[in-house]
Amino acid sequence: MKNFISVHDVTDMDALIKKALAYKANPYADKSLGANKRIGLLFLNPSMRTRLSTQIAAQNLGMEPIVFNVDKDGWALEFEEEAIMSGNTVEHVKDAAPIMGKYFDILCIRTFPSLKNREDDYSELYINQFIKYAGIPVISLESSTLHPLQSLTDIITINEELASRKPVVGSRPKIVLTWAPHVKPLPQCVANSFSQWVNHWGKADFVITHPEDYELDERFTKGATITTDQEDALKGADFVYVKNWSTYKDYGKIYCYDAEWMLTMEKLKPTNNAKVMHCLPVRRNVELSDEVLDSKSSIVTQQAGNRVWAAQAVISEILSSAK
Ligand code: CP
Repeated sequence: MKNFISVHDVTDMDALIKKALAYKANPYADKSLGANKRIGLLFLNPSMRTRLSTQIAAQNLGMEPIVFNVDKDGWALEFEEEAIMSGNTVEHVKDAAPIMGKYFDILCIRTFPSLKNREDDYSELYINQFIKYAGIPVISLESSTLHPLQSLTDIITINEELASRKPVVGSRPKIVLTWAPHVKPLPQCVANSFSQWVNHWGKADFVITHPEDYELDERFTKGATITTDQEDALKGADFVYVKNWSTYKDYGKIYCYDAEWMLTMEKLKPTNNAKVMHCLPVRRNVELSDEVLDSKSSIVTQQAGNRVWAAQAVISEILSSAK
């Protein structure tokens, strides 16, 4: 693996899942793999889980992680080619990224979308410029359109749960991604990425449910059943993934505040004793009720815990490829 930006960087998803779960059972199995190597974690946006889990993952492999909060501590970066830098940006990524390439062996970057211009956000300019100029492997810690470490974690968690169930010959799990209300416009990254990974995994019946006008980019959802009928979508679900996203077509807007879309215990009744997932952070009693989050149906803490093993498997793959 050279970079980790999307599911397309993974050659064997099952092997990557197996590797992550092996690290969960034995975190220090490859303690010398990253010895004398450094990983840079660049944050242009806030984070708790991604920041901590990726540092722990790197340390488990013997690497030294260095976190740099570009948004707070760094110079304002320019990403446009041939920019006349007479405004607020101080340093071009063309100058900054190669220096980071000298300091680190792997570079990880978190950049959120502006949600103002769809074409700009979906061009993934920020992360692509780092790939172009850093000269070392790049891992996405969430980009403008995707959150691959989160999605790998989600698939790992689903596999872990399925392994603990009695297998039913010939049956496929039903996974439902359901839109939830939120107070502010959020990126489509997690929903895009989860859809991309579940479709690529191909071992589940996948349903996406959202209010009208909340369609995601078909490049990620193609293969899923899409419906605006949440009640019908939830019937027989084994996993319910709850997530808000802003509109894609009329980009970055909130059309629906309808509290009816919040996931409650009542709504879980027609499911197949579904496990409830969310990438976190979550707005309690807006996206999901307290009752659901505090119930045995919720596996959000297990899911967030698995962020370490997903990151460790990816870093390990990149280190092994670079040998
Ligand atoms: N799920 C997730 O990426 O969490 P953080 O924003 O806290 O990293």
